[in-house]
Amino acid sequence: MCGIVGYIGCKPAVPVLLEGLKKLEYRGYDSSGIAILEEGGIRITKSVGKLAVLQEKLAKRTFSSTIGIGHTRWATHGRPSDINAHPHMDCHGDFAVVHNGIIENYLELKEWLMAEGHCFRSETDTEVLAHLVEHFYKGDLEEAVRKTLAKVVGSYATVILSYKHPDMLVAARKDSPMIVGIGENEYYIASDIPAVLNHTRNTYILEDEEMVTVTAQSVKFCDFQGKRRDKIIFEVTWDPIAAEKGGYEHFMLKEIFEQPKALKDTLAGRLTADKVILQEVDLTPAEVAAFNKVAIVACGTAYHAGLIGRGLIEHWAKIPVEVDIASEFRYRSPLIDEKTLVIVISQSGETADTLAALRESKKKGARVVAITNVVGSSVAREAHDVIHTWAGPEIAVASTKAYTTQIEAIVLLALYLTQAKQTMSQEWITEIISELKMIPDKAEEVLKQAGRVQELAKYFEHVENAFFIGRGLDWAVAQEGSLKLKEISYIHAEAYAAGELKHGTLALITEGTPVIALATQRDLYDKTLSNVKEVKARDARVIGFTFEGNHGFDKSVDEVFYLPLTANELSPILTVIPLQLLAYYVSAARGNDVDKPRNLAKSVTVE
Ligand code: G6P
Repeated sequence: MCGIVGYIGCKPAVPVLLEGLKKLEYRGYDSSGIAILEEGGIRITKSVGKLAVLQEKLAKRTFSSTIGIGHTRWATHGRPSDINAHPHMDCHGDFAVVHNGIIENYLELKEWLMAEGHCFRSETDTEVLAHLVEHFYKGDLEEAVRKTLAKVVGSYATVILSYKHPDMLVAARKDSPMIVGIGENEYYIASDIPAVLNHTRNTYILEDEEMVTVTAQSVKFCDFQGKRRDKIIFEVTWDPIAAEKGGYEHFMLKEIFEQPKALKDTLAGRLTADKVILQEVDLTPAEVAAFNKVAIVACGTAYHAGLIGRGLIEHWAKIPVEVDIASEFRYRSPLIDEKTLVIVISQSGETADTLAALRESKKKGARVVAITNVVGSSVAREAHDVIHTWAGPEIAVASTKAYTTQIEAIVLLALYLTQAKQTMSQEWITEIISELKMIPDKAEEVLKQAGRVQELAKYFEHVENAFFIGRGLDWAVAQEGSLKLKEISYIHAEAYAAGELKHGTLALITEGTPVIALATQRDLYDKTLSNVKEVKARDARVIGFTFEGNHGFDKSVDEVFYLPLTANELSPILTVIPLQLLAYYVSAARGNDVDKPRNLAKSVTVE
């Protein structure tokens, strides 16, 4: 996730762009840059690091240009560096481009453009846009952008500045947000409303596959075929703080609702109809066949994603898997060697215990694959192979979109290993891939039931204890649901393997004790149902989560919540969403600081 801005009007552009970027820093901030028009050409200033570094570079001079574009980066393709920072230019410096999103077919396009004689400077996917515009430009900038977008597969919000058209900016969006702010004889372009709120409350919100051309005096919207579109003005009534949270009360809620997009982005470019493609993992089938063990190591929520990984890799790729909490791993002298595949999972890529486990594994000769959300993080740099989750920056301490995308990354890796080992039939692989592709839309469906979860949450406002039960993958999700509730609502919650309750914990179940029963695994349903009956017989208040169409379950529980049908192995991605919402609503109702729970930190860089 990156932030982009553009300005055209009568004010000096540099301060307007910097102010806009400052407001978008929450979208990512590993590097930033701007491009303005000066006599003689486009002037680009960019720098790795926080926006303050760029501001310092620009403070040395005043600039009179009244047109420009800017970008704050959250690296996806290419590590954070001066060269990879946006804006990017074509070969001759006639076009400058900023971009938020992922160009999935950039390697193919880059090869083609290089064969046509184009020279690339950065490792980014974005740079292909600048060269494509140069390739297609025949005097009409809009036409060149349209032809460029026709070649591109992926998601983008992009703004193009051209030396050949000093009085115009052209921008377009597909699957990444973009708005236009309306001033007097001036227009602003931005990824999000906070960037323009100091100047105007009148905006246009771009739809998918829409282009806009602005001059200081005019604005024109078209679809990707060049057909004109009329738009209505959207007047923003939010205050600036609410605007940063996209109108949501807390970052956590915003991030929960961002999951369909994050899930879609994480799959982008990694699936064909019958195959998983992980360009970042470089293992030959012979190397995969030589692994006699997988060790998954992580902390907190990422550890819970690892528990799901165990189920999938053992079941599909038929390799034994151990899952460890990173702080325990090192000190139990784990038996790992060059025949072990170690998978470390870390949202931040900076957790000290996880990093230490990674180093220990490398020392013992293991192959290390990392799953992380932060390009250029320590874990990403030190692992042999990296699968990035494309969740965008996660700001709330309680992890949500990072967790569901971590599960997706694990699913992709498990399928990659399965393909290499040929332990499942091609027919089965094709089927699971088609189910996986539907997950982002199914997550959207689950979110439509947020109001229902908010109602359920009322019961928890005054309870002191809660239990989460489930079997198999449901038990793994129960552990994450229980952690979410504990960390932000401060209710004591425990997750139990449903079949284990009777060996002790059942003694704690009394009248009205809330029990969240997960019963989404169809092969284990009957067994879980027996355990639900055990707690119900002790007068627990049971809230059941099961798959759509499983009528009858409602007779055994007090409330039932149905989840869209999917493969058993993929259901954790959907099941956790109402549990995240439950924790959120309980915490908010109790008046807690949802985004910054007491005693906790987003990234723990000490042992
Ligand atoms: C902290 C956070 C958790 C997170 C854990 C691991 O405890 O509060 O939400 O799951 O660290 O973080 P990582 O960045 O390694 O995934």
